[in-house]
Amino acid sequence: MSLEIDLSGRVALVTGGSRGLGRADALTLARAGADVAIADIQVESDESDVAEWGPLALVAKAQGIVYTESTAREIEELGRRALAIKCDVTDRAQVDATVARVVDELGSLDILVNNAGTLDHAAQFPKQSSELWDRDLRVNLTGAFNCAQAAWPHMQERGWGRIVNMASVAGTLGGFGQASYSTTKAGLLGLTRTLAMEGARHGITCNAIVAGIIGTEAFHFANAEMNERIANRTVFKRPGDPQDVANAIAFLCSDLASYVTGVGLNVSGGIELFAF
Ligand SMILES: NC(=O)c1ccc[n+]([C@@H]2O[C@H](COP(=O)([O-])OP(=O)(O)OC[C@H]3O[C@@H](n4cnc5c(N)ncnc54)[C@H](O)[C@@H]3O)[C@@H](O)[C@H]2O)c1
Repeated sequence: MSLEIDLSGRVALVTGGSRGLGRADALTLARAGADVAIADIQVESDESDVAEWGPLALVAKAQGIVYTESTAREIEELGRRALAIKCDVTDRAQVDATVARVVDELGSLDILVNNAGTLDHAAQFPKQSSELWDRDLRVNLTGAFNCAQAAWPHMQERGWGRIVNMASVAGTLGGFGQASYSTTKAGLLGLTRTLAMEGARHGITCNAIVAGIIGTEAFHFANAEMNERIANRTVFKRPGDPQDVANAIAFLCSDLASYVTGVGLNVSGGIELFAF
């Protein structure tokens, strides 16, 4: 068996791929041979007001940090097929339509990366907003549920599937000022283990990435001094790179990882270790 990560002939759907980790995942899966659809609420050609999606979406739009369609074009330049689809993962009808379009236009759906997430709700517990609590649960948890449930029958039919959920060390260690976010990321680990149990008989694996601090555009929007403090808690004393996460995802989606399921793989620079 070759040790190469070869995803030729596979079709992947990456949610939240307008920038950051999702964009790196989409490009990496394509470099490994997969055709890739990117689904995001933000696409460059969309003129609608993204204010309801919170400050991060507004900043990204204002600064032109939305690359959904351009990433799909980059993937096509690699010789793969690609789709950029505007889709709100909290809306089941949109998710169903997205999955139907992927299967219709790309022929199947073998790999799902549940990456869409909200990272802009930071407040200590008494000041956590109940509206944002609800939104975070809907995007981070219900969104992953919606996408996995819509993709499942297609994976089951082919007897092969890979689901990767983007969790976080906030879900395993807690997150100061991140009650809703850390709760959703902990919840994803339960979903991951359950889908791993139920998927095995259909050839479907389900794993989670427990990411630490990764230097995405969203990370650089945040307070630089706080970022340095957090990075110093890793054993490498630096944030990770989006490619570090994408590499782990490519492995989990490959045949090399066919006996790996139900794990939360830390890509965290050892932030959970007792570093001093
Ligand atoms: N960056 C980090 O340090 C880090 C650490 C741990 C976990 N994560 C997780 O990785 C994932 C990606 O993080 P990122 O840093 O790239 O963040 P990001 O904000 O740059 O990307 C999130 C993407 O999700 C999209 N999105 C938000 N709501 C959506 C919805 N309802 N439907 C569809 N798309 C939606 C956004 O438009 C954006 O493209 C998230 O799940 C995040 O929780 C990130």
